[in-house]
Amino acid sequence: MQQLKILTVGSANMDLMLNVDRVPAAGETVLSDGGVAYIPGGKGANAALAFAKLGAHSVFSAKLGADVHGQQLFKYYKESGIDTSYIKVDRDCPTGFAAIMKENNGQNRIILYPGANEHLLADNLLEAFSSSPDALYLNFEISFQTALSAAKIAASRNIPIFLDAAPADKNMPIEALPYLEIFSPNETETAELCGILPSGADSSLRASLALWRRVKCKYIVIKQGARGACVYDGKHFDMIPAARVPKVVDTTAAGDTFTAALTLEYMRTGDVKAAAKYAAAAAAVAVSRFGASSSIPTVAEVMSFIQNGSV
Ligand code: ATP
Ligand code: RIB
Repeated sequence: MQQLKILTVGSANMDLMLNVDRVPAAGETVLSDGGVAYIPGGKGANAALAFAKLGAHSVFSAKLGADVHGQQLFKYYKESGIDTSYIKVDRDCPTGFAAIMKENNGQNRIILYPGANEHLLADNLLEAFSSSPDALYLNFEISFQTALSAAKIAASRNIPIFLDAAPADKNMPIEALPYLEIFSPNETETAELCGILPSGADSSLRASLALWRRVKCKYIVIKQGARGACVYDGKHFDMIPAARVPKVVDTTAAGDTFTAALTLEYMRTGDVKAAAKYAAAAAAVAVSRFGASSSIPTVAEVMSFIQNGSV
């Protein structure tokens, strides 16, 4: 089978990961139990890495700062097999940065400084599209206008568009987006965009319908953490359960891994439900590991998990 080329237009961050028993209350200090590390992250970069590790030709269009973190990230992308030909450097703004507190139950809280990601502009995109991608992958850690411009270029060339709607803001004019193949928010992003928090089959269906009225797309896939994800195509509604893992270590980048794996497997097979099951396996491996990029599995690891329930 020919290798698919996926263009990711998105964010690149250096993550500072801190392991804590629990996050501090206002005015309180808590000790990190020793788990502290700088790890490459950012929703765009995590997806671009997932595409490369899962067997695609992964092209990444992003903006880094002219600083040490930017240099470290660029080197890491190159060594990881990501096509870095269209990554730009901003001379005035630091590389994106995320401070992530990870509690022992695997849940995280993230403070994001977007930095250079906000300076990825529509002007930077045409060059990246000269790579002739088979699909465009977007999220909202870059400016909405840049994401919209990328989507419009893709639509004008009949390139299928996949959107991880993270992070979301209720004021985003998502109606303006061209037709998408898959629109994939998580629970809180869904609540932000349609006012309904999916918490079971009934509210998930209502939320899917509400999003369907706002976004032009073939499928809505709402990620719901340990419950799994639901798939809606305007007629049929299905719940795809999460895969079980022996221990949830850290959920950081579970959503990035899920939507990237969903995109690639859907591009390979055209079967959205089978792709969501594959994505659940990839995300299950990711939640059993620490950090963002450090948790993303290879195609062999996903296959091993599907066959044996472990990597
Ligand atoms: P993040 O922002 O941390 O990257 P997200 O909020 O976008 O994640 P989630 O809904 O938390 O995404 O998770 C995406 C997918 O990961 C789920 O649909 C599920 O398949 C898998 N997943 C998440 N949490 C667990 C878990 N505890 N056990 C197994 N799989 C999980
Ligand atoms: O989805 C996880 C990512 O969100 C982290 O890598 C962090 O950089 C934030 O962007």
